[in-house]
Amino acid sequence: MKAIVCTKYGPPEVLQLQEVEKPTPKDKQLLVRVYATAVNSADWRLRAAIPSVVRLFFGLTKPRQPILGGAFAGIVEQIGKAVDQFKPGDKVFGMTGMSVGTYAEYVCVFQDGCVAVMPQNIDYAASASVPFGATTALHFLKKVKLVRGEKLLVYGASGAVGSAAVQFARHIDSEVTAVCNSANLPWVQELGAERVIDYHREDFTKNDAKYDVVFETVNKLPYAHCKKLLKRGGRLILGSAGFADMLKGVWGSASSSSQILTGVAQETQEDVRFVRELIEQGAYVPIIDKTYLLPEMAEAHRYVQQGHKKGNVVVYID
Ligand SMILES: NC(=O)c1ccc[n+]([C@@H]2O[C@H](COP(=O)([O-])OP(=O)(O)OC[C@H]3O[C@@H](n4cnc5c(N)ncnc54)[C@H](OP(=O)(O)O)[C@@H]3O)[C@@H](O)[C@H]2O)c1
Repeated sequence: MKAIVCTKYGPPEVLQLQEVEKPTPKDKQLLVRVYATAVNSADWRLRAAIPSVVRLFFGLTKPRQPILGGAFAGIVEQIGKAVDQFKPGDKVFGMTGMSVGTYAEYVCVFQDGCVAVMPQNIDYAASASVPFGATTALHFLKKVKLVRGEKLLVYGASGAVGSAAVQFARHIDSEVTAVCNSANLPWVQELGAERVIDYHREDFTKNDAKYDVVFETVNKLPYAHCKKLLKRGGRLILGSAGFADMLKGVWGSASSSSQILTGVAQETQEDVRFVRELIEQGAYVPIIDKTYLLPEMAEAHRYVQQGHKKGNVVVYID
């Protein structure tokens, strides 16, 4: 099968199109013929081993699993003998998480992993664009128990995680203020933000407005500013916190009435099923910025690594 192989950490050029052996599903696995994958913010960090702690989890000197990629949409081609939830021919989408492997024509996924039947009203590309941002946003919004009527500020609302957070919050009738740049204001507002702020033009941290929940998705707003925006007893999500902010978060939670949440999001089957239902109801819209073909993977990585994509970047595997 065709796959993009990454045999060493480094710049986008380390991603090479190669012919590799097609995987065989274990008893509880599905063999999925992948038609679309996505390049997410986590993918370039893994490719480049940034931060270096990546090496502890994925391989000290080179990636243990040379086929990267975490999101997929495709069709079940074969099932292991203990699979009873899916059948050949099912169109599915999901995430492989730490197992990666989706930059390829085929990937094996466990039937109880983060996989679900695809939404009926969207195609493979749109389906592959959804799981990364959606499962991350849901993980954190569930942790802070955001409820109807609460005020949420999403910082970095034009990214994969931010645009998903805006949509989930709108769905539960939370009052969303979204922060992004002026070019992205119109479409982010259409996703359901009640108020949008251009971070280039307005220093909103100097306003008096306070929020029940602040979701900092891109690690750009200083910790002290995030905390200042919280109501008493408010909850702060640092979705992309570095080590120093994680420590500040632990201290901040212990020493004040605020709850500060950091850590790694866990993607679940329940979450992809939930987002499928919303998509089918028209209550969640996949956001695709650019699409590429499999041989253009390095170019897709170069674009995503710049950190300015709008929503998601998809790669077709035909
Ligand atoms: N904790 C976890 O388990 C977990 C899971 C997934 C992702 N993450 C992390 O979360 C972060 C966000 O992920 P993502 O996939 O949403 O990223 P992304 O899609 O690459 O974010 C890009 C967006 O961020 C905006 N942005 C950049 N600088 C900004 C700034 N100073 N202020 C406001 N917006 C700004 C960009 O808009 P402009 O055009 O305005 O620059 C762009 O639309 C990443 O660092 C990722 O590693 C963590």
